Amino acid sequence: MNITVQYNMTGHTSEELVFVGCFQKEAKKGKETVKELQTGHWPKEWKEAFQKIPSSAHFKGDKNVNFMFNLENGLRIFALGLGDKSKYNDEILRRVIAKAFKDYEGKNKEISILLDSFLLGRDLEKTAYTIAEAIGMTHYSYDVHKKNKTKRILETIHLDTTEKKTKAGKLEIAVAEAKIVTDAITVCRDFVNDPPNILNSVTYSKLVVEDIKKVKGVKAKVLGRAEIKKEKMGMFLSVNAGSAHEPQLVHLTYTPPKATSKTKHVAMVGKGLTFDTGGYSMKPSSAINGMKFDMAGSATVYAAFRAAAMLQLPVKISCYLGITDNAINEKATLPDSIVQARNGLSVEILNTDAEGRLVLGDVINYACEEKPDALIDAATLTGAVLVSLGHEVCGIMGNNQKLVNELLKAANDTHEHMWQLPIIEEYRDDMKSSCADLQNIGNSRNAGTAKAAAFLEFFVKNDVAWAHLDIAGVANDQKQLPYCPRGASGQIIRTLVTYLRNVK
Ligand code: BES
Ligand code: MG
Ligand code: ZN
Repeated sequence: MNITVQYNMTGHTSEELVFVGCFQKEAKKGKETVKELQTGHWPKEWKEAFQKIPSSAHFKGDKNVNFMFNLENGLRIFALGLGDKSKYNDEILRRVIAKAFKDYEGKNKEISILLDSFLLGRDLEKTAYTIAEAIGMTHYSYDVHKKNKTKRILETIHLDTTEKKTKAGKLEIAVAEAKIVTDAITVCRDFVNDPPNILNSVTYSKLVVEDIKKVKGVKAKVLGRAEIKKEKMGMFLSVNAGSAHEPQLVHLTYTPPKATSKTKHVAMVGKGLTFDTGGYSMKPSSAINGMKFDMAGSATVYAAFRAAAMLQLPVKISCYLGITDNAINEKATLPDSIVQARNGLSVEILNTDAEGRLVLGDVINYACEEKPDALIDAATLTGAVLVSLGHEVCGIMGNNQKLVNELLKAANDTHEHMWQLPIIEEYRDDMKSSCADLQNIGNSRNAGTAKAAAFLEFFVKNDVAWAHLDIAGVANDQKQLPYCPRGASGQIIRTLVTYLRNVK
């Protein structure tokens, strides 16, 4: 399939399907205000062909309403309603393009998108970026295991810049950058959708190291069981105790080309539970399916890291993926066990299903050694975040309001929903054990998401500014978003990349 982003309203061939954006305007008809379709920019033959179809009178350019019509030469025009121009924004554009693209992807060989008709303000580059992003995100399905696979790799989006020569270079960069981000989203979704019998700790870490090899300025290191033991990560090891596979701590570093001693350093940590059975505090069968998604935090931070490095952003980034499964055998950790964390605190494991915080606590502590300017972790940490915020909103918590605000702003700018929950002394106290320094669950089910964050905070050291993203809700099942497929969503990657772009 070919997708061309261009300006020309004329000169299309009948092979093509042309997407044209249509705004609505209000007009006075006698005493009444009515909504009218804006077609001022259409060529005469378009208007004629449109008006010939009686039902076209009902198409007023309402947001999310589309209308298809044919020109005499057979060319098909797909008019996409964008609604009122004053309310128009990039999220509306993303959704409109995603929906139209989904309807016709695979059915049409050539899709032409008329850039001018979708303009966000006067920003051609942002418009081209957003269209490319919407298509890149929408073009995904996890069907590698099916007999009938769709073609997964989208041929590049062509940009026909003959009419805007002066802008050509910038527009090409915008489309190429969008592709870097959406390719990273694809990589994340593939990892997250991969089943646990294929993606285990060792195969996962190998795939990551192999994938990042092609990116300039990145160093990769993998710590296995011996090294993790040497680091005294007793919590991490306790989660892996019942596993058939070695734990893996993937440590990636990206150094920008012109790094100086003033270059900012951001660390990202991800929960990489390739499957979470709950351990001996086993999940009921109603809750166990889907737990292959429990490595989504690691795939999310990895994807953001990959995109940032490919974009050659001027910020140093370290990425740490704590990878294992939470399974049981005769060596698996028993509930009531007490283990030693990397930072020396003893932790009573009252529930082996609260395993993510055990892995993250040790890995966060390790990441703090380098004294990054900011540390962000992402994890499918609690079912409780689904209770409070649903599948639609990511929970954010942290020890540094400036960092939290920067992430909230990045989320807002990318139209990904994020909401802060507090970490208070009472929550910290609730994580203290009667027979060890800490316990891994609170004394009640209340405030489960924030108490998990309160637990993690005990392992942040060197006064590092830290924020925790609980993505258990947003990582999958984004049915309401036309640019998210079934299964893994790849949500929050765009927020992290936007945040990283703004680090100065
Ligand atoms: N991986 C789960 C969290 C989860 C639950 C993600 C549902 C997605 C959907 C995590 O390891 C877990 O099991 N958390 C427990 C914590 C509890 C034992 C304090 C939970 O949320 O039930
Ligand atoms: Mg669990
Ligand atoms: Zn888990």
